[in-house]
Amino acid sequence: MATRPPLLTMNRITKSFPGVRALDGVDLEVHAGEVHCLLGQNGAGKSTLIKVLAGAHRPDDGEITWAGEPVSLSSPTAAMRLGIATIYQELDLVGGLSVAENVFLGNEPTSAGFVVRGGRARAAAGRLLERLGHPEIDPARLVGELSAAQQQIVSMARALSHEVRLIVMDEPSAALDPDEVDNLFRIVAELTADGVAVVYISHRLEEIRRIGDRVTVLKDGRSVAGGLPADTTPTRDIVALMTGRTVEHVFPERPDRPDDTDGTAARDPVLTVEGLTRSGEFAPLDLELRPGEIVGLAGLVGSGRSEILETIYGARTSDAGRVLVDGVPLRPGSVRAAVRAGIGLAPEERKAQALLMLESVGSNVSVSTLSRYSRAGWLDRRAERAAAHRAVRELSLRPDDPDAAIRTLSGGNQQKAVLARWLLRGCKVLLLDEPTRGVDIGARAELYAVIRRLADEGLAVLLVSSEVPEVLGLADRVLVLREGSVVHTAPARELDEHRVLDLVMEGNPTP
Ligand SMILES: Nc1ncnc2c1ncn2[C@@H]1O[C@H](COP(=O)(O)OP(=O)(O)OP(=O)(O)O)[C@@H](O)[C@H]1O
Ligand SMILES: [Mg+2]
Repeated sequence: MATRPPLLTMNRITKSFPGVRALDGVDLEVHAGEVHCLLGQNGAGKSTLIKVLAGAHRPDDGEITWAGEPVSLSSPTAAMRLGIATIYQELDLVGGLSVAENVFLGNEPTSAGFVVRGGRARAAAGRLLERLGHPEIDPARLVGELSAAQQQIVSMARALSHEVRLIVMDEPSAALDPDEVDNLFRIVAELTADGVAVVYISHRLEEIRRIGDRVTVLKDGRSVAGGLPADTTPTRDIVALMTGRTVEHVFPERPDRPDDTDGTAARDPVLTVEGLTRSGEFAPLDLELRPGEIVGLAGLVGSGRSEILETIYGARTSDAGRVLVDGVPLRPGSVRAAVRAGIGLAPEERKAQALLMLESVGSNVSVSTLSRYSRAGWLDRRAERAAAHRAVRELSLRPDDPDAAIRTLSGGNQQKAVLARWLLRGCKVLLLDEPTRGVDIGARAELYAVIRRLADEGLAVLLVSSEVPEVLGLADRVLVLREGSVVHTAPARELDEHRVLDLVMEGNPTP
């Protein structure tokens, strides 16, 4: 490896957007056959750097070499011709086209110079999906009908549909459950064994240890460390490089509550769920949530977790059972009734469900609170802005300007804007679906602290997360779901990660 030139070097790359210097002289060196992890806080410049590499952004300055030769990545086609493929953080698939059409979009497979279409394109797509461990995805299906995890696989198939030498994955694991992550890592190992280089971006530091060879850390648009060994560099050092400080406690301290004998348990439940059912999605569910309590739902993607939250919220109609707030039954299937009663839902798919992409941060943050800021029908802009400012500050949103357009924010900061909206709203019951997806470790600690503080002030929280440590670290009580049924309930402090994984994976639960 030492004698051959690196496959890729990026030197002193600079890129500014109006008002922001996203990259300020970044260096990156990637060798063939390695997994090179790119780390950094939300807004550090990771996605911008890989968009330069993909030919999607023109850098203002800097040099790029490929196998020792200077190159200009002036367009996505130029990057693709070199063998650079990119799986973006915000998947760029076309929902109204079929799987096969998406796989070969702009890159139709050719046979002896003839474009291959129809049945042969479907067959080629089918082979790629099989290689990726997902033969069940039908190449003729519309991408819009697939789950987030399946869409991830389709964009991987697209990346592999032409000759690749370097593949960039921007937070590929964010939408995947543990099984799927194992599958992803198997694919990565196969690629690197063939000499393909992988640039891997993730906020889950434990993944870096599992598959990374070397690490480059970005901070505020600069590379603060390049090519550190992934297996021997201590996590605390990496976190300190990323954040510029040491993060000692990620999770806030849990109030000490010996089971059911303290003040919290004595309070009446604010949310009661009685026999709530949706056939084919989840079995009759009973649940009580008291003010101040954080309850976690653990389970695999597809175990019914999000469906439960959406049904409580009235976005899906239940087949049986009811939801009560402060003892008063809600009209079933009515979001309006749920919101009036004080329930909030921060949903999982931020782009599709939650954000007004063309609007400012401020309007996104206050969209569900507008009625609180109108006096005699007039919007109280000043109160609205003050509230938006507070939310932006408390969650350290970057840039901290409520007038910035939401689409220009980094992925993690968009997620914070979704949460700010709900944390601001002053609900009684907050349903959180994957709240920290794509959020960096420093900001997570802040977010957890805000959630815990709101709980201490009386909010009840129902939390869904694919990351078991998050459920165990933040929740007071955990319900473990498997195929739509609660298979175990326990105080979080009595569970550990292995036990929860055993329970969700239906293997033989350890006694
Ligand atoms: N099109 C754009 N217009 C204006 N500013 C932008 C644009 N794209 C990115 N930025 C800004 O550039 C900076 C770097 O963003 P980038 O998306 O590269 O961060 P990131 O490291 O990928 O973060 P995350 O972990 O949240 O995904 C941020 O301040 C972001 O707001
Ligand atoms: Mg990003």
